[in-house]
Amino acid sequence: MKSRYEIAKNVFIDSIDIDDYIELDSAGSALGRLEQSLDKPLKMILLFGKPGTGKSILLNRIFTKLKHRKEIYYFDTPSITEKEFFHKLFKVLTKQDLPRNTEVNFSALVNFCKDLRGKREIVILLDEAQMYGPQIMEKIRLLSDSRSVKFVVSLHKTEDEDLIAKEHFQSRIWEVIELKNATKEDLTAYIHKKLLKRNLYEIANSIKEKEMRLIHTFTKGNYRECNKLIFTIFEICEYYDKNEPIKINYEKIQKRIIEMAAIKLGYIHV
Ligand SMILES: Nc1ncnc2c1ncn2[C@@H]1O[C@H](COP(=O)(O)OP(=O)(O)OP(=O)(O)O)[C@@H](O)[C@H]1O
Ligand SMILES: [Mg+2]
Repeated sequence: MKSRYEIAKNVFIDSIDIDDYIELDSAGSALGRLEQSLDKPLKMILLFGKPGTGKSILLNRIFTKLKHRKEIYYFDTPSITEKEFFHKLFKVLTKQDLPRNTEVNFSALVNFCKDLRGKREIVILLDEAQMYGPQIMEKIRLLSDSRSVKFVVSLHKTEDEDLIAKEHFQSRIWEVIELKNATKEDLTAYIHKKLLKRNLYEIANSIKEKEMRLIHTFTKGNYRECNKLIFTIFEICEYYDKNEPIKINYEKIQKRIIEMAAIKLGYIHV
């Protein structure tokens, strides 16, 4: 028979699928702010935060929410070349395909966008924008100056680099929305809601407050790290459930199991 922990484990596989989106206090306020910013006459909005803080899933959420009301596009992984990127952009702006061997005439595209002013309001969500080079960023800025295209630029913040300080982001970004790691309360809500969505009530209840605190400490509230840790915890539970059920407390996830998972993932060393 399939262990319940196997089902629980799979709930924590990384996903940016909109069906997996969880309404959280902090993410909810970021969503609200992003929506408000999109209603302002802004040209560029910067969404930034460390890897695993939920930028991609938030972009997907806003895309799904607004796609029936606004002309909005989501560019997930950056195009490999500048040419490819502008082909993609050309297609959404002009609604026409450009033959593969033709280069986009950039100044014509800018003029095209200027002509769209007052006629169309286009929003483009650019995920993983740290991968676009400065030349592309400069052109994005020029296009946004037309006021008919608005860009939401999502970037991840690394430990040693302050991207906002980078030249092409200075004075050109009118609004910055930062996603942070979760508080203990948000992380608890995240874990519970994810499990409850799949009707895994007992398992959700088996993670008590003290253990949530431990999970928050190990993962520092990072959603991706939390997914990994919870996955590993349930993987261990699944093993015991199948092979040595005597070693498992079904009422309460033991500290020992959380620590075993933390060792496996390298959060703590023995
Ligand atoms: N509000 C949320 N609802 C549901 N899942 C979430 C939420 N926020 C984060 N997650 C989970 O955390 C994982 C990491 O989120 P996401 O991929 O959006 O982060 P990111 O900031 O885009 O990271 P990176 O900078 O590495 O691209 C997702 O796979 C998802 O499982
Ligand atoms: Mg992402």
